[in-house]
Amino acid sequence: MNQDQLKQSVARAAIEYITPKLQADSILGVGTGSTANFFIDMLGELKDQFAGAVASSDASATRLKALGIEVLDLNSVGELVAYVDGADESNAQLALIKGGGAALTREKIVAAVAREFVCIADESKWVDVLGSFPLPVEVIPMARSYVARELVKLGGSPVYREGVVTDNGNVILDVHQLAIVDPKQLEADINQLTGVVASGLFARRGADVLLLGRAEGVETIYP
Ligand code: A5P
Repeated sequence: MNQDQLKQSVARAAIEYITPKLQADSILGVGTGSTANFFIDMLGELKDQFAGAVASSDASATRLKALGIEVLDLNSVGELVAYVDGADESNAQLALIKGGGAALTREKIVAAVAREFVCIADESKWVDVLGSFPLPVEVIPMARSYVARELVKLGGSPVYREGVVTDNGNVILDVHQLAIVDPKQLEADINQLTGVVASGLFARRGADVLLLGRAEGVETIYP
């Protein structure tokens, strides 16, 4: 199986995982990226079984609407039945690095509101220690250089993702050279830097379940 086939297999597994949890008034959180896109495309099959979705990016919102799925403002809904999204890395505790697609802040917000965070990923995303994938950090533009200097003090090597503006109008620093042995602590340390909007480290609110696509089949992993 190639990587796209693995992504399709976990998207299908997520459809099977959430279907029994959906009710006519359920609102689903939907993530961003190529794996999430496979999930969105399959979600069209279920569109009559739930009320609508909250999307973590404008791109996902557009894709959902094209399938006839109602996209709602997070402020107009209560708890989400689940949030389904991909990841750039996951460790065994289901702490994640996300944000390769620059949607990390909205992803974090939607995940926070969900009863269950269902992560879908192919096996290339499974790691012992987070940090080989550069950690994205969303930053208010005028704080970019200051935050970069502070991230160096935390042991990282930040690189400005040139030409990228987030859906919130901010910029991204991708932090290289981190071996993240204590994800919750690093998440807290980065969060408290003035000018940081959010980091792509999902440790305090990691995934509740990971559907990991392997050549042998989809493995269901709990923290
Ligand atoms: C988007 O900002 C990201 O968090 C994605 O969820 C993550 O990068 C995984 O993307 P792929 O499914 O495209 O690998």
